[in-house]
Amino acid sequence: MRVLVIGGGGREHALVLSLSLSTHVQEVFCCPGNPGISQIAQCAPIQISDFAKLAEFASSNKIDLTIVGPDEPLADGIVDFFEERNLKIFGPRKAAAKLEWSKYFAKEFMLRRNIPTAKYAAFDTREHAIAYAYSRKLPIVIKADGLAKGKGVAVVHSHEGAIGAINACFDGKFGESGKLVIIEDFLPGREASVFAICDGEDYALLPTAQDYKRLLDGNKGPNTGGMGARSPHPLMDANILEKVEQRVIRPTLQGMKEEGKPFKGFLYVGLMIDYDKNPYVVEFNCRLGDPETQVVLPLLECDLFEVLVKATEGNLGQYKGRLPSADLNGRGAAVTVILASQGYPEKVATGMPIRFRVGCSLGGQSQLLDHTGDILPEKSKIILFHAGTKLDNNRNLITSGGRVLAVTALAANEYEARRSAYAAVDKIDFAGKQYRSDIAKD
Ligand code: AMP
Ligand code: GLY
Repeated sequence: MRVLVIGGGGREHALVLSLSLSTHVQEVFCCPGNPGISQIAQCAPIQISDFAKLAEFASSNKIDLTIVGPDEPLADGIVDFFEERNLKIFGPRKAAAKLEWSKYFAKEFMLRRNIPTAKYAAFDTREHAIAYAYSRKLPIVIKADGLAKGKGVAVVHSHEGAIGAINACFDGKFGESGKLVIIEDFLPGREASVFAICDGEDYALLPTAQDYKRLLDGNKGPNTGGMGARSPHPLMDANILEKVEQRVIRPTLQGMKEEGKPFKGFLYVGLMIDYDKNPYVVEFNCRLGDPETQVVLPLLECDLFEVLVKATEGNLGQYKGRLPSADLNGRGAAVTVILASQGYPEKVATGMPIRFRVGCSLGGQSQLLDHTGDILPEKSKIILFHAGTKLDNNRNLITSGGRVLAVTALAANEYEARRSAYAAVDKIDFAGKQYRSDIAKD
């Protein structure tokens, strides 16, 4: 089988790696990919928004299944586009992806379906939004309705802050996405990410994960795309997971089907677990998380490609329920630490040479390196997922984006995984490198 992955970040690198391990998969392609991905897949420089070229590529390369990494192409209808051309693709159609591209739709859907989430109201005028903000107890959460590259959400602790966030939306900071504003009550608790591979009706669960969204240690500083992750999530025992399945995942799939938008694809449920261990939905995404994918997929102990083919065919069969993975029964854990460029998540400095310190057992080379390699402690495994990297004219690896590398460690337990992830982090340098030192620490 020949597989195409769309995207070019750390998440897509992890998808490509898992798919390339499938016994069914002969060749993996990736558009546009990155230097890390190009070590295990054939990359072609086609932009993720160019559906016509992507479909032409899939067709001429006899691709058996296409898998979409990022949210934008899904929101723009890439699945519909491929299906209209009889090309097999795994992901939700545009109508089902609305769970992610319209927070208003998602909130109304949850209300209709009795799915636990924060109380909210939606506004298309500044004045009404501000009046409502004043009527709620602080903190509150202001959200742009549409996609905003993870930046459209502000948790505010003052009315001035609320007005600032509301104005940012109506002043056009997020373009069309901010024309409708959602104001939500603040949910206290701990965040968790749950991922389900859905076939339109049923689902297969991936290991749970925790994302670290804030830039700085101690969950301080601005929100980012994610500065690290661990899997499994320490709070997400079988009990809580059962609640999530019963109260969120099943009614979501059933509701979407009944409303004529069956959900096929990765369903990413962003949750807040309150102090009574009850789950509330913070957001739905219709794709995998980045960097959660970089910890979740390496733990899987089944053939991801096989699961995705079955889900695409609309029948998960034996894969329904919890997928076999190394974290079950406390056998394994994964931790990933993001190395980001100076300035991230705002304007970043790029073009910095990336160096791997001599003696580093990550493959030895100073530019392109192996994905896997032993590093202390011996029983763990390091996988280096590329995100914002590229090769310069001399084929040296340089930084090219905000999040540069995701350093994932797999080990028998989280403590070991954490230790080896940070041991590897110490061996990778580029000017302005910044990272959190407290991933998986608590
Ligand atoms: P979202 O893009 O909707 O996931 O929001 C980004 C982040 O804002 C989430 O990961 C949470 O940390 C925070 N957040 C969003 N909504 C709420 C809420 N209702 N209560 C508390 N925190 C929230
Ligand atoms: N890790 C957060 C996201 O992918 O949206």
